[in-house]
Amino acid sequence: MNSDVEIAGDPLAVPHLLPAPAAHPSTVAGFAGLIRSIAADRASWEPLVRYDPTVRWYHRLRTGPGYEVWLLSWLPGQGSGVHDHGPSSGVFAVLDGELTERSRDARRTLPTGTTRVFAPGYVHEVVNDGLEPAVSVHVYFPGLTEMPMHCSAGPAAARDAGVDPVAR
Ligand SMILES: [Fe+2]
Repeated sequence: MNSDVEIAGDPLAVPHLLPAPAAHPSTVAGFAGLIRSIAADRASWEPLVRYDPTVRWYHRLRTGPGYEVWLLSWLPGQGSGVHDHGPSSGVFAVLDGELTERSRDARRTLPTGTTRVFAPGYVHEVVNDGLEPAVSVHVYFPGLTEMPMHCSAGPAAARDAGVDPVAR
């Protein structure tokens, strides 16, 4: 015997020695991983997507202990309005198209593949400012129970709207 691996066995070669994979995520990194795995599995969400010109379309894709996953579509011009997420944290990713996020301190262009993470109290607005439809996936933990609307996301949003944030 030359090493402990020879004595104990290589755990990577003996799967029954590995800890069981968690059935559900319980950390921010875990939820981000869940979002990435859904994004990579296009066949699991693409056939479900609908576009509704009268209202922003959403569909509950999955639930787990303490969390929910939502699929959303965004036609050009559709947006969330300025809001927070109550006590929920979240991770979302753009699956198709491009979205724009405005928050207190920034305006971000979110192309396909972008992932964003936020904590409770985070105020933002998400809009499809482009000319093509967009799709996104969102996980909220705990599940979203309230989405208080705000008058403004802050200076960055005010700048975008052509409003002088200092004068308001
Ligand atoms: Fe949001």
